[in-house]
Amino acid sequence: MNTQRSRGPRLVVHGGAVLRGSVHVSGAKNHALAAMCAALLTDEDVILTNVPAIRDVDTLAELLVSLGATVERVAPGTLRLNAASVSQLDPPTELISENRASFQVMGPLLARFGRASSPPPGGDVIGQRPIDVHLEGFAALGAEISRVGERFVARATAPDGRLRGARIFMDYPSVSGTQNVMMAAALARGHTTIVNAATEPEVQELAHLLNAMGARISGIGTQVLEIEGVDALHGVTGRIMPDRIEAGTYAIAAAITGGAVDLCDAPVTVMDALLAKLRAAGVEVEPTERGLTVRRNGDLRAVSFQALPYPGLATDLHAPLAALLTQARGISVIHERVFDNRMLYVGELRKMGAEIVSTGSSAIISGPTKLHGALVRALDVRAGAAVLLAALVAEGTTIIDDIHHLDRGYERVDEKLRALGASLERI
Ligand code: EPU
Repeated sequence: MNTQRSRGPRLVVHGGAVLRGSVHVSGAKNHALAAMCAALLTDEDVILTNVPAIRDVDTLAELLVSLGATVERVAPGTLRLNAASVSQLDPPTELISENRASFQVMGPLLARFGRASSPPPGGDVIGQRPIDVHLEGFAALGAEISRVGERFVARATAPDGRLRGARIFMDYPSVSGTQNVMMAAALARGHTTIVNAATEPEVQELAHLLNAMGARISGIGTQVLEIEGVDALHGVTGRIMPDRIEAGTYAIAAAITGGAVDLCDAPVTVMDALLAKLRAAGVEVEPTERGLTVRRNGDLRAVSFQALPYPGLATDLHAPLAALLTQARGISVIHERVFDNRMLYVGELRKMGAEIVSTGSSAIISGPTKLHGALVRALDVRAGAAVLLAALVAEGTTIIDDIHHLDRGYERVDEKLRALGASLERI
């Protein structure tokens, strides 16, 4: 996907503005996508509020419709999903390959209809991104997994077409793997224990939504989930949590420009790792009644960090933080411990003058360096955020190509930044 040259709109960013004011944090991409898949588990209406208007949501909506579900935007940010008429259990390849979350239709379809198939999912090219955790989980729940051409086919082998509860150890606490298997287990017969489950806030929120639909999941937020299967789930109205990665990105935008920004609705209680690093770098971060205030007056100091599963520092904030650290005094060392190819942003920041080298899954940044405008690309959602942040402080004009990647995960990013005083336009 990211080997192609420029297509679609570009962002033209004139660096140097100091960001001030307040920005509203949108609903979380990775919670919204999983919650939309959960709608497949019931024939009743699932109403989701605070859904972000981003490309990944549109793509998944299209996928659900292709299965026979209805997805209506009943108000701004509110989706009504209904999967009563789902008849298609083999989602089309072109929609599955658009993003990673789409593979999470497998668990719900398999649990409710006893069969599902899908090609491997797409998404950012940020590592190998296998799906063994998902498939082994389905197999443990009594599904037979086969490969027909490019597609994985999962079929419940029990005569009643239902999955069976099981004790499952996950080789890696995969976020979407935990969500997929948890959704499947919610409708299985009997008890499931998932050991080494992911604890990311988006996984927790999905578990709460499932419980509000009648599921019986406990251990939420721990690495051991206990799920008592039920025969059916019912409809629900649920609110999508605010996006901790979007909030983090705007916090870094305030910090990198030496500005002061209020982040309304920032989910502060799940942002500890980032806030600790920002403070260590010399940024003032203060939780408020409405969210979070981020302000920087003095110089930035170098800090080192590792990107880890939650509650460690989110891998999705690795590249944005790296952009910030190009402006910090000293040497910062970053270790990426989640994905094996999350360093795509390094070459783009170097084009802008950053002194940054990567070896394997580590990056070493010397700062501060004066960045300058350049022609760069958004190579994935977060690599795109990194070049956009760098462009805010670069001298001159930066042109960012391939911003469809940014649009996958950031709602109206150019509008929001302009409202804070940034100078940028979409052409
Ligand atoms: N992994 C396996 N086997 C599997 C699944 C994953 O080994 O079956 C490995 C991966 O190779 C990777 C690690 O586990 O090294 C983490 O992958 P995980 O499955 O946890 O990530 P994901 O579910 O594919 C979600 C988010 C990502 C976010 C990661 C980590 C969605 C749709 N995506 O991906 O979000 O980076 O969790 O927190 O929920 C983004 O928003 O930019 C983004 C990439």
